Amino acid sequence: MNKLHFLRAVWSDIILVESNGLYGLIDTGFARAFPRIKDYLDRLGVERLEFILITHFHKDHYGSLPALLQTYPVGTVYMKKFSGLNITDGSGHSASDEFNAREMENCERMCALARYHSRLVVLDGTVGHVRLGEFNFQLFGEPDAIRIMYLDPFSPYYHQIRFGENTNSVVLYANVNGTHIYLGGDACNEPLEYERYSCQNTRYACEINHRIDLLKVPHHCCGNVLSDRFLSILQPRYCVATNFTATVNGQMKANRDLLLAATPETQLLVSDVCGYCFTIGANGDLSFEEFDRLPPITFEEIPPERSDEYWPLHIRYLVEDDIISDPEDIEYFRSNKYRFEILKHMSSTHDRHHLVYMIRDGKRIGAASYSISEDSGECFLYDFWVFKPFRGDGLGHHCYMALESYTQSQGAEYHEINCTGKDRTRFWKALGFVDDGLDEWNVPLLRKNRMEYKTYGGNPFEM
Ligand SMILES: [Fe+2]
Repeated sequence: MNKLHFLRAVWSDIILVESNGLYGLIDTGFARAFPRIKDYLDRLGVERLEFILITHFHKDHYGSLPALLQTYPVGTVYMKKFSGLNITDGSGHSASDEFNAREMENCERMCALARYHSRLVVLDGTVGHVRLGEFNFQLFGEPDAIRIMYLDPFSPYYHQIRFGENTNSVVLYANVNGTHIYLGGDACNEPLEYERYSCQNTRYACEINHRIDLLKVPHHCCGNVLSDRFLSILQPRYCVATNFTATVNGQMKANRDLLLAATPETQLLVSDVCGYCFTIGANGDLSFEEFDRLPPITFEEIPPERSDEYWPLHIRYLVEDDIISDPEDIEYFRSNKYRFEILKHMSSTHDRHHLVYMIRDGKRIGAASYSISEDSGECFLYDFWVFKPFRGDGLGHHCYMALESYTQSQGAEYHEINCTGKDRTRFWKALGFVDDGLDEWNVPLLRKNRMEYKTYGGNPFEM
């Protein structure tokens, strides 16, 4: 029995390979994913991993490695080591020297752990294949492209820190009983002025030169990772993208469109709310089923007579999240004048103001306030926040996508928000919002028009 299990993951990869009772893991997600991985391995009765392969040294790929090594016997750890020249810190900011030095130490620590608990094999270009039962993965990727381009005096990037660790990512390709699989890691497809490492995914596709059945879309379907050439050669039947919002919204939407235009019959699966287990039959037929689906996010409307319970939460959010800091503003949002105004609109029959809790698993995990214009279909979001204990793991994105679908069911045609601050703007833009001028107080406005989600099952956050 041959299977590939893509565990539920957002902005990270966790791929369990199974062949005739043997198991191996390709990437390990963030550190916080460990309980989820362990839970799944327990359910399958996995007690040993033949290998763990880290495609490149980024936290969303190596994060759970230490916990896994301390919990399971692991035959071999295949590790792509850190270059020390990573340009970003993984959260969209440029990496400092301290960051790179810390990651270098981290990498050495992981290697030492791997040597202690297992057998360490550094992916330095000498390893061409990794085998597990009937899987024989061919490895693509350069030993240390980043460092080579940095150190080569003839390189246009000589002594320049220009690349992220993704440029060093390993790609795995296998043909199991005629089922062809391309696991793209975070490999890029940037055209470079350094020919040898230019358009990596396209070059690997040319080498493979065969239609594939399953593509783990490189780099969470974000950035310059695909090309027409790549898709026209590989023509993937199923694609797994490990971030829904990156796949369909914002700057990465182009990848989704490129994929669907080149291969209209492809099924694009996103791993944000559930995992996917692909089974390769004896004659190569491929099928999948989902597992570990998160419970949906639902909404509880707060009626006007209960609005008093909302205000303390609201003011705490405004202050703690630094939405307002001016004492006059704080006074205004605490005032009866403001609250009466909202209450009046909450009771109105036209363009009613809504206060809602967002609920998952029976728990209130966040809140929002909005109104929908019956004339224009504008849904203006006044407030939107996830309660502090629940933040992380993409929950803010999940909540918004659920709210978008909920408000659309109430008549919203497009969404508008006013927004300041780099991180907040980045959050909304990643969800597909675009600049929409300034409001009357010169605060930037962002807008998102209604869009069609052409992934398997549509918007996975829809109720
Ligand atoms: Fe990644």
